[in-house]
Amino acid sequence: MGDMVKVYRSRARAGLVDADINQLLQVSRRNNPLVRIDGMLLFGRGCFVQLIEGPGPAVERTYRRILSDPRHADAVLLYDGAGEPRRFTGWAMGFARMEPYAHLASVDHFLRLAETDVVSAFRAEVALGLLLDFRRECACSDAAAATC
Ligand SMILES: Cc1cc2nc3c(=O)[nH]c(=O)nc-3n(C[C@H](O)[C@H](O)[C@H](O)COP(=O)(O)O)c2cc1C
Repeated sequence: MGDMVKVYRSRARAGLVDADINQLLQVSRRNNPLVRIDGMLLFGRGCFVQLIEGPGPAVERTYRRILSDPRHADAVLLYDGAGEPRRFTGWAMGFARMEPYAHLASVDHFLRLAETDVVSAFRAEVALGLLLDFRRECACSDAAAATC
């Protein structure tokens, strides 16, 4: 099986704090390189959008683990398909908060949907466009641990 990619959005559990996010990023950046997974995690208006890509079985296992994590809920899979060429090579798990980037059309669109609670209407191509905008915005020398 070649590389696969999954993109989902979910809602953070109420009361999630920065330390929770830092902790899950630390674990992701430790685990993902071991199974050749790259990706990007976005957080805005209490919602996560995450892309994970890598060898199919590793992506499936990691996604199942993420889904059962009590720090978030209401996950909706937005994109699930072939992941070649990879989009986030070398990003063990990039991270960005969306609010400071609300001047980007893709971010403004997402934040509005998140507010009106129809995020499940968020389409695959739109989600990918959003993530790729952040790949560009967050490109820096240490992409593996990019936090912007
Ligand atoms: C929004 C979100 C994104 C996550 N992303 C990843 C990830 O990319 N890779 C990963 O290994 N764990 C990720 N986790 C954490 C997993 O749910 C789980 O806690 C972790 O993989 C357990 O790893 P451990 O058994 O090595 O402690 C994420 C959790 C949340 C809530």
